[in-house]
Amino acid sequence: MKRENLLIGSKVIFLPQCSSTNDLAKESAQMGEPHGTIYRCNSQTAGRGKDGKIWYSIPNKGIYFSVILRPGKNFPLCWLPYISGISVCESVRELFNLFPAIKWPNDVYLEGKKFCGILIESSFGREGIDYAIVGIGINVNHEREDFPEYLKEKATSIKIVIGKEIDNNLLFEKIIEKLNFWYEKLALNQISIIHKTLNSLSLIPIGSKIEVLDGGRIIKGEFRGFDDQGALLLRERRIIHKIYSGEMISYNV
Ligand code: BTN
Repeated sequence: MKRENLLIGSKVIFLPQCSSTNDLAKESAQMGEPHGTIYRCNSQTAGRGKDGKIWYSIPNKGIYFSVILRPGKNFPLCWLPYISGISVCESVRELFNLFPAIKWPNDVYLEGKKFCGILIESSFGREGIDYAIVGIGINVNHEREDFPEYLKEKATSIKIVIGKEIDNNLLFEKIIEKLNFWYEKLALNQISIIHKTLNSLSLIPIGSKIEVLDGGRIIKGEFRGFDDQGALLLRERRIIHKIYSGEMISYNV
């Protein structure tokens, strides 16, 4: 069997607590763990977010997991963050009839607040990509008081939005099902359906005024959607910037 034919989640390694599932997955990928293996924990003591931020991983409330992927040559890696966000959005919509949205590049929002973050870390060898780790953290059964003061206005959880306790395992299984579906589309280079789905789930509509942090500089302009390489298109007067990674620091500006 070709290693990339293994299903995502055919092996799930569960630990009640760990430092960071991304770190576990990375170490294990370096030791040769095959495509599809997942590390999942009920709490993390050193959960990591993007740009060195902390990911608050409160015990038994959220879902914290990391997937080892070995995509092989010519895989359109730039779409990986998007299919991860799409998988979370669709799972939450189907199970709870909620309508989450993707805030570029890969945060997932409910009612204007973040409830899911995605951290992708890749390693490249001489022959191209060796592995990619997709780390997903979801605020599921958090109460408002669970968040530190500075996050209370910015973060939410599914429980806060629907007002009842959620079965974490049910949501986890659904996300894995969706990840398998969308990963296959990506592996087959079926970008147009991913592109269309991303547009339909985008937090901000085309034409919105946004500010993006790209490297060290802030670019302010009009959101023009995404190109075929997954770059965000930002029109600043007559220039169209193609932005492959960064952070949207404000919208409707
Ligand atoms: C972000 O929004 O900054 C990304 C947050 C990613 C958090 C998840 S939780 C599971 C995995 N392990 C980590 O240490 N981080 C990711």
